[in-house]
Amino acid sequence: MNIIKCSDADEIAQKVSEMIINKIKEKPNAILGLATGASPVKTYKKLIEAYKKGEISFKDVKTFNLDEYYHLPKSNKNSYYTFMHENLFNSIDIKEENTHVPDGNPADADYYCKEYDKSIDDAGGIDIQLLGIGRNGHIGFNEPSDHFTSGTYKVSLTPSTIEANRIYFDSEEEMPKEAITMGVESILKAKTVILIATGKFKAEAVRDMVKGAVSPSCPASVLQKHPDAYIFVDEEAAALL
Ligand code: F6R
Repeated sequence: MNIIKCSDADEIAQKVSEMIINKIKEKPNAILGLATGASPVKTYKKLIEAYKKGEISFKDVKTFNLDEYYHLPKSNKNSYYTFMHENLFNSIDIKEENTHVPDGNPADADYYCKEYDKSIDDAGGIDIQLLGIGRNGHIGFNEPSDHFTSGTYKVSLTPSTIEANRIYFDSEEEMPKEAITMGVESILKAKTVILIATGKFKAEAVRDMVKGAVSPSCPASVLQKHPDAYIFVDEEAAALL
């Protein structure tokens, strides 16, 4: 694990976007694994800037997102489909057919999840997987449990995750309690993993991920085993390291 301590979220976005920009320059048809939530937003802004300056093009890039709420319509303002279009896809030259956000409303969830993993493998595998970390140590929506998960699957969200994400919804009832997420094994298959953690609420999860045992009670700790993982932390998130 490479731990990169930065002064703030802006420095993290600068460094992470440089890594992604360099990958796209070296491999214009790079496969990116993307995350939603607050952590990657500044990085996405930097990627949009680089595209607008003509530094990179996304015309041959393919993306696969980590997760999507289950049974939330794509068109909902809180769907990850909407998030990705508003925060990145609508502002770059990526082809819609090259973007993949898991379908939150599949007819047959098990079948769909297997196909999602297959489509990642068929595309050649993820070159760079971007991650955030939950306050409880989750990556994607792989919540703390007694085993590490494998491929993409349907998951029940924990009370901690529901509480953290509830702020985006008008009421608790509207907040989905399940999601489709890439599993830990799918995440570990990425050639390079970049995780972003900022703010004091992430400090304990960051400590457990970096200094704790590799354990499914902190799913992010599995990244200790990844051969090319970069953990970008600001001062508050690094406070307990
Ligand atoms: C999002 C995702 C989640 C978030 C995590 C941190 O696609 O998979 O694991 O990365 O919950 O969320 P933020 O960045 O909002 O603190």
